Amino acid sequence: MSHEKYYTMNINGKNAIVTGGGRGLGKAVALALANEGVNVAITGRNEENLKNTVDEIQKLGVNSAYAVFTIDDEAAVKAGIETLAEKLGGVDILVNNAGIGDFGTIEEMPSETWEQVIKTNLFGVYYAAKAVHPFMKAKGEGDIVNVASTAGLKGGPNMSAYAASKAAVVSLSQSMMAEWRKQNIRVITLTPSTIASDMSIQGGLTDGNPDKVLQPEDFAEWVRDILKMNRRALIANGSIFSTNP
Ligand SMILES: NC(=O)c1ccc[n+]([C@@H]2O[C@H](COP(=O)([O-])OP(=O)(O)OC[C@H]3O[C@@H](n4cnc5c(N)ncnc54)[C@H](OP(=O)(O)O)[C@@H]3O)[C@@H](O)[C@H]2O)c1
Repeated sequence: MSHEKYYTMNINGKNAIVTGGGRGLGKAVALALANEGVNVAITGRNEENLKNTVDEIQKLGVNSAYAVFTIDDEAAVKAGIETLAEKLGGVDILVNNAGIGDFGTIEEMPSETWEQVIKTNLFGVYYAAKAVHPFMKAKGEGDIVNVASTAGLKGGPNMSAYAASKAAVVSLSQSMMAEWRKQNIRVITLTPSTIASDMSIQGGLTDGNPDKVLQPEDFAEWVRDILKMNRRALIANGSIFSTNP
């Protein structure tokens, strides 16, 4: 038996777009993919973070670019994704990572904040996937990683907007997977638990202690390894937790 059958894929030379790639989990994923030789374009609102991250990515010897747009504006997402796809010369991988966490009770959170969480987290994933899909369909393959959350599997106090947005991302992602696997597009729904980042530390969810709490690099290595699996294999859903935070 040839053990080549078991080899993971080489993803060197592929082109990826990571939304929210200027900091946090998105930045870690962008760097982990670049370390594998993937050309990585990133998006976000903070141009300085994006520029600095593009510099770091390019130092790893791959092509990189960024686009500044807000993920809740469909026309801006479409234009930004198309520009990046053109710069990279196609898109093989989309990591739908941009998102916000706003926490508070149903009674106290202003409706505008509640709506903005849904718009950013749910519509953002939908707009970016829709913008990238024509490129993957034309190529006959692609990978889309949708970053939901364990909060999307079960609601709880102070997280109604965030949990509802992420539950909707899980559902949207499952539908996407069912529709697009026929086009050789792997749609992967990830539901990570708390990982040290601006969102989780500023939100008071964790102190981010690296001895105990998941770090963005742990998440990034997991995403990289999922993407490196042979194309016949699709990790449809996955959760990751800190072992003993
Ligand atoms: N950290 C955790 O514990 C955890 C757990 C489960 C799931 N997640 C999910 O993982 C993803 C990344 O989270 P993180 O912890 O890395 O958060 P973070 O450090 O707060 O970073 C959020 C990222 O999303 C981008 N973003 C937010 N709103 C945006 C908008 N309207 N338009 C464009 N970009 C926007 C930000 O870019 P700019 O700063 O440039 O706007 C930033 O790159 C999110 O979807 C989050 O819900 C996180």
